Formats: sequence, structure tokens, C-alpha cells
Amino acid sequence: IPPEYDLNTPIPVSTATGLRSSLPNYGDIHFSLFLRKVFIKSLGYTDESLSKPIIGIIDTFSSFNPCHANVPQLIEACKRGILSSGGLPMVFPTVSIHESFSSPTSMYLRNLMSMDTEEMVMAQPIDAVVMIGGCDKTVPAQLMGGISANKPFLPLITGPMMPGSVKGVRVGACTDCRNNWAKYRAGELDIEDIMGINEELAPTGGTCGVMGTASTMSCLCAGLGLVELRAGATSAAVSSARLRVAEMTGKAMVDALKVDAMKPQELLSRENFLNAITVLQATGGSTNAVVHLLAIINRHPKVKGTIDLKTFDEIGKNTPLLVDLKPSGDNYMTDFHNAGGMLALMHRLRPLLHLNARTYTGQTLGELLDATPFKDFPYSRQVVRPLNDPLHPQSSLVVLYGNMCPDGAVMKASASKDKKLLKHRGRACVFQNTADMAERIDSAELDVTKESILVLKGIGPVGNPGMPEAGMIPIPMKLGREGVTDMLRISDGRMSGTAGGTIILHISPESADPDSVFGVVEDGDFITCDIDERRLSLDVDEQEITRRISKRKEEAESRKHRKAARYARENAWTDRVSLRGYRGLYERNVNQAHQGCDFDFLTADGPGIHRE
Ligand code: FES
Ligand code: MG
Repeated sequence: IPPEYDLNTPIPVSTATGLRSSLPNYGDIHFSLFLRKVFIKSLGYTDESLSKPIIGIIDTFSSFNPCHANVPQLIEACKRGILSSGGLPMVFPTVSIHESFSSPTSMYLRNLMSMDTEEMVMAQPIDAVVMIGGCDKTVPAQLMGGISANKPFLPLITGPMMPGSVKGVRVGACTDCRNNWAKYRAGELDIEDIMGINEELAPTGGTCGVMGTASTMSCLCAGLGLVELRAGATSAAVSSARLRVAEMTGKAMVDALKVDAMKPQELLSRENFLNAITVLQATGGSTNAVVHLLAIINRHPKVKGTIDLKTFDEIGKNTPLLVDLKPSGDNYMTDFHNAGGMLALMHRLRPLLHLNARTYTGQTLGELLDATPFKDFPYSRQVVRPLNDPLHPQSSLVVLYGNMCPDGAVMKASASKDKKLLKHRGRACVFQNTADMAERIDSAELDVTKESILVLKGIGPVGNPGMPEAGMIPIPMKLGREGVTDMLRISDGRMSGTAGGTIILHISPESADPDSVFGVVEDGDFITCDIDERRLSLDVDEQEITRRISKRKEEAESRKHRKAARYARENAWTDRVSLRGYRGLYERNVNQAHQGCDFDFLTADGPGIHRE
């Protein structure tokens, strides 16, 4: 008889009845299960179906999310895989975030999505979950939530869009969005050209077709050992291969339940994350992924504290950039896929990887690579270069330190257009925030030359909630018209993974911190950037810096400026308590870029009970 009717036997917490999640508490545990069955049966399920392993599928479709346009088809294919392997699929929604339709920023909502994911995965009676995601912040949010929930899960990536074509030239979101917009601003393209390009930049559903944050995160999932290597990270959103990936993922999730230690906190070790960082460097991945990976790592009780920003730089020093994709190179995700995708890359990187890391298949990475050989071919070597013929010899992403960024700053050196700028000393041209920049950047009076260093403050995690992707400061119009295409630019914000240029980001601590040196940089100050020494310094003597910081605090106090009414370095800089709702939660609890911009109460050593 079904367990709810056997009043003399305690109800087992077993996979078979989908009871891993605690039952809603109606006091009487048998009645609780009885009641749960009442409602699920109203949907037509039989006791036999309900006795199978229950696999959740997270639906992140939204009319506002073209990167997730194929989610309905992926769900159908995934269900097929689950059913054919003896599981019962159950679909449920969570928050869906698209880059362009999320105000103030998608990053502001990432932690909300991670909380939604964690809580819904824990709350509902599922044994494991397939998380469908793709657009930039989605996969990080799901990995963060999934690791904290600590129930077996697999990511199912929506996949990249196809490239478009304008007058015979291929274009793709969003590196070419930015390049072409810069040409329009410089007067090289007219309105008809740019309108035609607008129609073709995103010609199908799917995620941005270059090595932006979405593609980077999907490659990192393969590096972590969580997605199938041949097609899981790279097959196009609109391809039949992507649907087969969905079916295989459903099947793999049911099979994985037969393997011990599929809980993410057991499956993923430090080595899995070191492999992911190697992949990040070898793909010339997005700077955003640095913030996301730190947030993901800091959710993991056994890995937190063993990897920090410095680890990214150390791994970079031994890892060449192999994947020739925009913005560091020339190609699109579909080319990467046709060249062998992550299977080719992981085979090339083999000497640099930790082969004992476990994968979703139950095999170690070494065993998985042995079982799935890659047969090389000439086109593959063009797009996924061999170790001895890289696109960039090492350190595509570098981490800088100095008086201006004692907790670090990040730069994608491989995407610099003018390599002279990697070692450069120049005078600061300072903008206090994005509004100030928008007002003055194109003014004929702006005191700026091509040797100047453009500095943008006020776009850190607290200063401008969500740390907007405004770090790619546009070249001032008057210089653009003279043919200047790159300048050294510095901010406490982020930039899109699809963007390029010599750009230093994620200055930590951010300028909104009253003790921040970056916060007191003034027009005309000299700044030195030296990539070889990994140094970024404000060349102003220490006494003067101290004087400026005290003056700034006094002014803030006397103005009773809301944002400085109360401050304590690790605690609250703003009168944050007065903010209501999610905004209040965000401002009171977000940590800095070098910590992942997570909420302090969600990290593995944050307050509260953690799920084991
Ligand atoms: Fe979704 Fe670029 S906008 S991946
Ligand atoms: Mg992006």
C-alpha cells in the first residue's frame, strides 16, 4: 500500500516518492503526504508515475528573453530524455532575466534569481533538477542557487544565436553592435547603414554569438564537468543538435541519480573550479565571468577561501588564449562549434587541466576525455588553436593591484586594441558618474588627448546598483573623429563580455566606499598602468591622498549626503536601512566585486543554516 495509508510505519524519506524535500507541515506526516497526492492527482498523475524519480525542469522562458526563445522546445526534448530513462519530469518557472530589458541592470537581479532558484529547488518535491538558462546572468544565478540548494542538478544551456550578414559581411551580437555603433558615432556609417545592421545583429533566438558572458558561462559549465563536451556548450540555439543536448541532459540527470555524490557540493571540488578558470583564460572569456565565478565559488563551503582573484591571474600566466572568437579574435560561436567546440578545447588543454576532477557522467575528466576522443582537422586548428600556436601567449585576463585598487581590478588584455596602452602613464580625465560622462564626453571643451586616461567613478556594486556595464567608456567624439579607436579606461563598473579595448574594470573597493582611493582621483592626476608588473597606481603622494579622503568624508557628512550618512567599511555606507524591498536588501548586503557581488548572507560562511 502507498506509504501515506500505512499509519504504523514512519514515512521514509526516499527518492522513490519524491520526498527529499520536507513535506509541508500539517503536523500529521501521513496526512501531509495524503494531501500532497490529492493535489498532484488533480493533474491526472497515477501512483505509478509518482513512484519514479522526480526531475524538475526550470523554465526560464519569457517574452522579454529572446536568448531563451527555444526554451519550450528544450523542455519537450528534455522531458523525452527523462521519461525514456524512467523519471518523471515536472516543469516549474523561475525568474527570467535578459540583459537588455532589466533595469537598472541584469546584475542587480542576479542574486534575486539565485535566491528564487535555491528556494524553489528546495521547496518542491523533486529529486534532481535540470536548469534551463543561457542569457548572461542566468547561468551564474542558477549555479549559485544550485550549489547552495545542494540537490543534484545539471545546467541545460539555451545555446548561441546564428550570425547575421550585412552586404556579405557577417555580424553578430554584440561585439559588432558596439563596433558599428562606434563607427556611426565617428561618422563612418550613415543612418541607413546602421539601421540595416540593426536588423541583422541578432538574426535568430539564442544567446549572443561571440565570446560574451553567456558563451563564456556555457564553456565554463563544460570546464566544470557539468555539460556534455561535444555540443552542450556550443551548439546553436536553433539547431537540432541543441534539442539532442536537451534530450541527453534529461536522460543524464536520471542516470546521475544512480551515481553517489551527485550533490553539487560533493561533485564539484577545487579542481573543477581551477579547470573552469583555465577554460576562462583559454577562451578569452568575459570579465564578468570573473565576478560570477567568485560568487559561485564563495557559495561552496569546501572551496570558498581556496580560490580568490589572484588564482585567476596565476592560472592565466600558464594558459594561452586558444579560441579565436570575437571580441579577442575574429569568429563566432557557430564557428567554434564547427571546429569541435569544447571537446576540441579540452583535449588541447589536457596538459593544463586537473584530470582527476569529477564530471556529471560519474567519470573523472581524464576518463571522460579518454572515452570521447577528438579527431583533429585543419579548420579546427584555425579556430581552436593548438597549445604551441596560440592567439595570445598567456594571461588574456589579468588582475591588477595598487594603491587605487588594493583589493584588485581586472582587465581583458587580449581584447586591447592598442597594445602600447598596456604599459602607459597618462593624465586622468575624470567623470564622477554616468550622468556626468553622458553630459561631457562629447563636448568640444573636454580637456582630453589620446594619451589621457578616462576615469569613470560611481558605477560599483553599491554606487550604481548592479554595477552597470558602462566600463567601456566611449572614445570622446572629437578624438573618435581624428581616428582614435582605443584609450586606457578605468572604472569600478563592468563591461559587456562582447566589448573590447584597453579597459580596467571592477576596481575594488569601489568609489562609493568613503575610504576608496579611486574615489578621490582628480582631473590631471597621473596614473600608471603596467601590465607586466600587474600594477595600477595613482601617482599622487600619500599625504595628499589622505587629505583628499578626509575632506571628502567631511563634505559628505556636512551635506548629510544620504549615501554617506553612516558608513563602516564592511557594513553600511549608505542610509541603506531606509530603502524598502529588494533594493534595500541589495544595498544593505551586496559585497564587493572581488568577492563576487553576492549578498553576504548567502555566501558559504555567511550567517544562517547551510544545506548539506
Ligand atoms: Fe542574452 Fe547577450 S543578451 S546573451
Ligand atoms: Mg552581456
